[in-house]
Formats: sequence, C-alpha cells, structure tokens
Amino acid sequence: MMNVNAVLVAITLALLTCAPRCVYSDDQRLLVNMTLVRNASALGAFCLDGSLPAYHLHRGFGGGARNWLLQFEGGGWCNSIKSCLDRANTRRGSTRYMSKWEVFSGILSNNASLNPDFYNWNRVKLRYCDGASFAGDAVYKNGTSLLYFRGQKIWEAIMLDLLPKGLGQARKALLSGSSAGGLSSFLHCNNFTKYLPSTASVKCLSDAGFFLDKRDISSNHTMRSFVKDVVSLHGVEKNLDENCTASSLNFPELCFFPQYAMKFITPPFFILNSAYDVYQFHHILVPPSADPQGHWNRCKLNPAACNPQQLNTLQEFRRDMIVAMGLSYKYSRRGGFFINSCFAHGQSESQDTWFAADSPRVHNRTIAEAVGDWYFCRRATKEIDCPYPCRSTTCHNLIP
Ligand SMILES: *[C@@H]1O[C@H](CO)[C@@H](O)[C@H](O)[C@H]1NC(C)=O
Ligand SMILES: *[C@@H]1O[C@H](CO)[C@@H](O)[C@H](O)[C@H]1NC(C)=O
Ligand SMILES: *[C@@H]1O[C@H](CO)[C@@H](O)[C@H](O)[C@H]1NC(C)=O
Ligand SMILES: *[C@@H]1O[C@H](CO)[C@@H](O)[C@H](O)[C@H]1NC(C)=O
Ligand SMILES: *[C@@H]1O[C@H](CO)[C@@H](O)[C@H](O)[C@H]1NC(C)=O
Ligand SMILES: *[C@@H]1O[C@H](CO)[C@@H](O)[C@H](O)[C@H]1NC(C)=O
Ligand SMILES: *[C@@H]1O[C@H](CO)[C@@H](O)[C@H](O)[C@H]1NC(C)=O
Ligand SMILES: *[C@@H]1O[C@H](CO)[C@@H](O)[C@H](O)[C@H]1NC(C)=O
Repeated sequence: MMNVNAVLVAITLALLTCAPRCVYSDDQRLLVNMTLVRNASALGAFCLDGSLPAYHLHRGFGGGARNWLLQFEGGGWCNSIKSCLDRANTRRGSTRYMSKWEVFSGILSNNASLNPDFYNWNRVKLRYCDGASFAGDAVYKNGTSLLYFRGQKIWEAIMLDLLPKGLGQARKALLSGSSAGGLSSFLHCNNFTKYLPSTASVKCLSDAGFFLDKRDISSNHTMRSFVKDVVSLHGVEKNLDENCTASSLNFPELCFFPQYAMKFITPPFFILNSAYDVYQFHHILVPPSADPQGHWNRCKLNPAACNPQQLNTLQEFRRDMIVAMGLSYKYSRRGGFFINSCFAHGQSESQDTWFAADSPRVHNRTIAEAVGDWYFCRRATKEIDCPYPCRSTTCHNLIP
C-alpha cells in the first residue's frame, strides 16, 4: 500500500516547488489537477454533502488523442443514514475534503514504458463521493440533516461535461474502475456506449469489482443484506439494468451483484480480480461479525498463517468465484478475464501490480499485457491462475 503521508509530502512539495503548471512531483510521479463539474447542479448531481462532483483529466496525444479511458474511483459504500452522514464529512463523501491533485499511475500513467497501451489516451479519474458506486438517486432530509444520494446523476453530469471535451468524438473507449468503482463499471457499461459514436470501439473493465453474493463462514448473508441496505437507502433499484431486474422480480436488488448483472451487458467486458480478493475475504467471507472469537485474525493478515481448514474455506471461495464468473461468461463472446491468486484488492492503478519487472503474472503475462491483448484483440485472454500457494512468487500479497 502506498504510504499516504509520503503521497501528501510529494504533492505538497510539487505544489510548493512548481505551482501552478507543473504536473510532476519531485520523484517523477504524474499529478493531475481536479476539475469540478460546475453544471452538475442543474442535474441535481451532488456529493453526499452537497458539494460539486469532480474528475481529473489528463489529455491524450499522438495516436491516442481520440481515445478515452475513464476510471471510476473506489472506496466502499455507506448503507445507513448514520454511516452516510459520517462519510459526508470525509474525502469519500465530499470534494471539499479530497486531494485536489491525483497521482496517475498504472493504467493511468502517461509513460509508455509503464503503461504500454493506454499511456497516450485521454485518461480520466472519476472521483467517488456518493457512497453507492455512482448508482443512487434519492435525497434524505429531516429538518436538521440533508444527504444527497445522487451517484447516477453524478455519472450523467460527468459524461455531459466530457462529451464536448472530445469524448463525444471518441474512436476507442474503455470504461474502467477499481473496487466499488469496478462495480460501477459493470453498472454503467451499457449506458456508456449510448453516449459515444456508434462507430467507436467501446469496452469495459472491472478491477476488483466482482463482489460475490456469498454467505459468510457463519452462513449469514452479510454481504447480501448490506447490499440490500445500500440499494434501498440510495434509490439504486430504478437505475439497475431493467432486463436484469425484470428477470429477478423477487430480488431486484441482486442485480447490484455482477454475477447476476453480467449477462445483460452488451459491450466486451474484462474482469480483473484476485480469487482471494482481500476485501471480499475480510468483509464478505469472514466479516468480524462471523468470527467474534478472532480465530481468523492471523490468517487474515498472512495467508501463510492459515490452518488447513481455513485454506479449504478460501479455496472454496475461489471456486465459487470462478463458477459465478463462468456462468456469466457463457453469455459473453468477446470478454476476457485475469483471475490471479494474489492476496490483493485492486491491481490496475498501482504501478507495482499493473506493469513492472516483478509484477504479478499468469502464464508469464502481466496485467497490463493481458488487458492490452484483450482490448486490441491481439490474443484471447482468459487466464485463471492455479490456487494459492502455487506460483505465488509473482504475488505481492498486499494486505491492508
Ligand atoms: C487545472 O486543470 C484545468 C482544466 O480543468 C486547466 O485549465 C488548468 O490550467 C489546470 N490548473 C493548473 C494549475 O494546472
Ligand atoms: C518512464 O518510466 C521509465 C521507467 O520507470 C523511466 O526510466 C523514465 O524516466 C520515465 N519517463 C518519463 C518521461 O518520466
Ligand atoms: C435527523 O436525522 C439525524 C440523523 O439520523 C438525527 O441526528 C437528527 O436528530 C434528526 N433530526 C430530526 C429533526 O429528526
Ligand atoms: C453548462 O450549462 C450551460 C447553461 O445550461 C451551457 O450553456 C453550457 O454549455 C454547459 N457547459 C457544459 C460544459 O456542459
Ligand atoms: C443513461 O442512463 C440514464 C439513466 O437511465 C438515462 O437517463 C440516460 O438517458 C442514459 N444515457 C443515454 C445516452 O442513453
Ligand atoms: C449470524 O447468524 C447467527 C445464527 O447463525 C446469528 O445468531 C447471528 O446474529 C447472525 N449475525 C449477524 C451479524 O447477522
Ligand atoms: C432489454 O432487452 C431488450 C431486448 O433484448 C433490449 O432491446 C433493451 O435495450 C434492453 N434494455 C436494457 C436497459 O439493456
Ligand atoms: C517471461 O516474459 C519475459 C518478458 O516479459 C521474458 O523475458 C521471459 O523469458 C519469459 N519467461 C518465460 C519463462 O517464458
């Protein structure tokens, strides 16, 4: 994990030493400034606290000048008035508290030797401040408290802002995102194509967004009930794919889960996920409520410390994920996937995992190569790594 203080120091230094135009920190990291979406208020598109939504745009050049990569920021969800009120006072719920400069690395890098296929595209990071993967549309008011659940409107406002900046004439486009933003990629992939010219090549990618509808180790539907709360609090249901919700009338909120929504997605889709996704391990499979005694604490922090029974549980999780994906993929002709066995959560935005000499590989391909091969149809990419601990040498096992 990147050290937050180090980033702040780097950013502060950059601002002190070369403001206002310089976009490199002293250690050569690309920093990109924030653009507030001024017109968002006309659509009622606000962050939780009522602040304006924002994105960071770094222009493409050369052969990439008419290609666009949009990356949804991640950062969990809020599922109650209380947790959303708390969130509204942080960088996860308000652009007021966000860093105004973002480091663009990994899939967002502008350096060909760090990001071989997308470095010269227009690259946009969509800031996450609604708490429901850019999919809600509701408002909460009770006289003293006011909360905007307007993720869907934020998505639309950012699209309308970017279209006249060149997105409307895109030749190639990739809608991407990590974690809760990887889920947004599933939820908005069909809608994305409708904004773009019919001649454009449009594809979508989800990094660490394949959140599984699975019971925890005490057989409770912890994740499913969390999702139900998010969907109903934020008014998400009406924005879910209508063909999906129509096909699961008794449980329309389940269409928030990629495993059910996937087969209704038309553009080619790439799933990048770890089979032992650390967030899912810690919050879906073994949430604290399911392990009050803390039997899993050591295993959660270090896979080498898991006992055989715990490893079995993890292998079963991996199998369930592959089955859920495989079922979705029956419906997808041009899709791709890269399911590795690293203990990680989010692998596209960090340079170490995206493309580096020692970054994770499956069949000797890095994530950047696998995604590029799929996007540009250089070769089919359907990679599933062998179960942990085999070939773990290319893993960094980044556990928070
Ligand atoms: C920040 O980005 C805007 C585009 O939104 C650009 O016009 C402006 O020059 C940038 N400001 C600085 C200080 O680089
Ligand atoms: C691009 O990355 C390479 C490898 O890290 C580095 O040597 C080079 O200086 C970078 N180029 C620029 C323009 O930052
Ligand atoms: C409004 O909701 C907040 C958060 O639940 C609560 O603290 C506050 O007392 C409520 N105000 C009124 C007038 O009900
Ligand atoms: C913002 O809204 C104004 C008035 O509705 C419109 O003229 C302008 O083109 C809009 N700008 C963008 C960037 O959408
Ligand atoms: C995207 O979805 C929203 C919500 O359903 C809809 O209002 C909007 O028209 C869609 N955009 C396009 C270009 O179809
Ligand atoms: C999980 O299920 C058990 C019974 O299996 C129940 O006692 C417990 O309250 C549940 N925990 C949560 C957090 O729902
Ligand atoms: C639902 O399916 C119909 C028929 O296949 C299709 O025309 C329509 O665009 C789909 N709706 C959505 C929201 O994808
Ligand atoms: C793996 O790929 C690298 C280049 O990315 C190459 O140098 C190396 O020889 C390959 N290793 C194997 C075992 O194929």
